[in-house]
Amino acid sequence: MYKLGLIGYPIQHSLSPWIHERLLQKAQLQGEYRLFEITPEDDFEQKVMELKEKELDGFNVTVPYKEKIIPFLDELDDIAKEMQAVNTVVRVDERWIGYNTDGIGYVRSLESAYPTFFEQLDRKVMILGAGGASRGIYYALTKFGVTQIDIANRTKEKAEDIAKLGKDKSKTNIFTIEEASKVLKEYDLIIQTTSMGMKSVDLKPIVQLKQLKSGAIMSDIVYQPIKTQILQDAERLGARILLGHTMLLYQAQYAFEIWTGKRPEVIEMEHELLAVLEGR
Ligand code: ATR
Repeated sequence: MYKLGLIGYPIQHSLSPWIHERLLQKAQLQGEYRLFEITPEDDFEQKVMELKEKELDGFNVTVPYKEKIIPFLDELDDIAKEMQAVNTVVRVDERWIGYNTDGIGYVRSLESAYPTFFEQLDRKVMILGAGGASRGIYYALTKFGVTQIDIANRTKEKAEDIAKLGKDKSKTNIFTIEEASKVLKEYDLIIQTTSMGMKSVDLKPIVQLKQLKSGAIMSDIVYQPIKTQILQDAERLGARILLGHTMLLYQAQYAFEIWTGKRPEVIEMEHELLAVLEGR
């Protein structure tokens, strides 16, 4: 009987219980995935101590606690150490070990939709945005051996900071968003990681697309709306697209694998999750 859960705030509308209960079913494992909301008014340390007593096998961590949880962990895996952000904790022999599954989750979602993409590692990739998600994706792509990964961000310094992760492995040019919009037609894969385009933020895409390279893939990690404006625009220009909810599924798949050692196939869940999102 696996005891799993999520800490964060607010988390009442989280899709994680649905995803992990489905993964438990698919892996034919008994278990539960519960929400442990910690509000900003709560005493975080005390709440974490209460969580320790619950003896969960593992839990996810979401905003605003991905960094704040770190002092309470006994060990960090290499990726979480580089990210200084944890979204998955596993209990092993009463010790808590922190992981960050976002980057690998993204790479898995890309591989699942476009299995041949990584056959050529000299593809040109552009990441729009330089927040936590961008950092995780950049690091996973450099580890995978992608040789050129450029980053565009409103605040260039944040992009420069991420590029330090790729030294010796990947070549990286830094752009402002305006500069990037003029060169987007040179890229094989463009990954939109900012909050622009999100239903709750601003439906306007971060860049207006004019032309894309033939065969290019446009990917957006925003999944509400399901098909953001930038993805619709890219499709009209003939690009292939990668929907944001797939990253959500594959980062969960990797977390589930860390907890249980099992890696259920999630391709059918992509359609099921779309139906859940459409019903919201
Ligand atoms: P996450 O952890 O989900 O990646 P984040 O760390 O808050 O979120 O990062 C948000 C990203 O969206 C950043 O790249 C941010 O740009 P800045 O680094 O310049 O702040 C970008 N972003 C948010 N709102 C934006 C806007 N209106 N225009 C341009 N970029 C925006």
